[in-house]
Amino acid sequence: MKKIHLKGPATIGNVGPGFDIFALSLKKPFDEFTIELIDSKEITVEIKGNVPGLPTTPMDNTGSLAIIHMLEELGINEGIQITIEKKMPIGSGLGSSGASAAACVYGVNRLLNLGLGENEMVDIARKGEVASGGSPHADNVAGALLGGFIFIKSYNPMEICRIEIPDIPVVINVIKKKERTTRGFINEELPLSDIREQSSHCAAVIHSLMNTNIKDFGKAISYDFISEPVRANAIPGYWQIKEKILENGAYGFNICGGGSSVFAICSRENKNRIAEILYQEISKQNIKPYIIKTETGNEGIKEIK
Ligand code: HSE
Repeated sequence: MKKIHLKGPATIGNVGPGFDIFALSLKKPFDEFTIELIDSKEITVEIKGNVPGLPTTPMDNTGSLAIIHMLEELGINEGIQITIEKKMPIGSGLGSSGASAAACVYGVNRLLNLGLGENEMVDIARKGEVASGGSPHADNVAGALLGGFIFIKSYNPMEICRIEIPDIPVVINVIKKKERTTRGFINEELPLSDIREQSSHCAAVIHSLMNTNIKDFGKAISYDFISEPVRANAIPGYWQIKEKILENGAYGFNICGGGSSVFAICSRENKNRIAEILYQEISKQNIKPYIIKTETGNEGIKEIK
């Protein structure tokens, strides 16, 4: 086999309190990829369609950078052509860069029969993320690769745990962040009392999923002492929007990964209403609304025809 076509889902990193260790996979949006072995010993990137801001220079694209690390670490000299059909918004915290890195590593693993396991693939793919946000965080790549809800049991050695989840309604408003990355704003130090709370909420997220309790899941994902307080500053009216959404019966609300998109968890019956209120609240802040009504999905990177 010389060529493989793949689909890679959008993901919400952090999922509230799980900074760099939680991710939730979505049914849509998703991107499509073609990974192909080529005769020249080069790695090339082609983007289908007009996607301003998506780099094609191999060292600057998360997919090709992941492959560069992969081939270098394994001592392989191969030419690879990556074609990306971008269908999801970029630079908005929906894991588009992570999906590219995960798909590329998955594709090359298959094409060259390398036999890498999930943990090894995640550990390589996360290095591609450096091209996007400057940090090799593994949450989005693991979520894209495996689907469902993932948490990182250990970064060193890399060990991922995946939980199969029910279809949970998710309403997103896409907001592109102004900066390339907002990680630099995050405080490196956290008081012990906040660490205690943060750990409790992380445990509550896992517990709620183990019990398939979507209300408790929503509640648990609405707390965060690391990313939300800082990244909310870049979203006009964030705290009022959150209050309004929760007042109207959403189970939970927080920021998607590195931002600046926001997401709500709600019941199936309340999905349209939450989408409507989110639309109105975002409009009040003079932000152009861009609502996506979706749900969580258990599918990770998948081969397509
Ligand atoms: N864990 C990452 C971050 C997710 O918070 O920067 C980026 O989507």
